[in-house]
Amino acid sequence: MKILLVCLGNICRSPMAEGILRDMIGKHGLDWSTDSAGTGDYHVGEQPDKRAMKAMLDHDIDISDLRARQLRASDFDAFDVLLAMDASNLQNMRRLAPSKEHALKARLMMDHAPDHALREVPDPYFGGDEGFEEVYQMLTIACANLIDDVKR
Ligand code: 4NP
Repeated sequence: MKILLVCLGNICRSPMAEGILRDMIGKHGLDWSTDSAGTGDYHVGEQPDKRAMKAMLDHDIDISDLRARQLRASDFDAFDVLLAMDASNLQNMRRLAPSKEHALKARLMMDHAPDHALREVPDPYFGGDEGFEEVYQMLTIACANLIDDVKR
């Protein structure tokens, strides 16, 4: 299973999602691979946002090795599932997909957390530190359910 996590800048939400999923995959002993990307190119080559790295370290997960890159059309061949953090990301991803079949591989991350009040992971970039903890909590639920959903 190859999973790509996608947001806008690839410095806040999707690297956090990748870090959480990577951690869970390791703990479950699964042979899955993960990566993350942004629909935008604003932060290509950068480390995750300091607030994102701090929120993750508060939960003993280190994402300092991750570097931002932009989503590319070939990702639709390289990955089995591409998970968008919000509806705008999903729309932009589907526009880039090489075919309708490829576009169907793109879904919303929070589809895996149907009981959560929010359907989209809010962009924490322009807010304070609390936003990053909220993102961590949401993504933890979605990633745990994703593993259950796929293993089933
Ligand atoms: P992300 O957050 O999509 O969760 O990585 C953002 C990071 C940067 C910007 C927007 C959102 N930006 O406009 O630079």
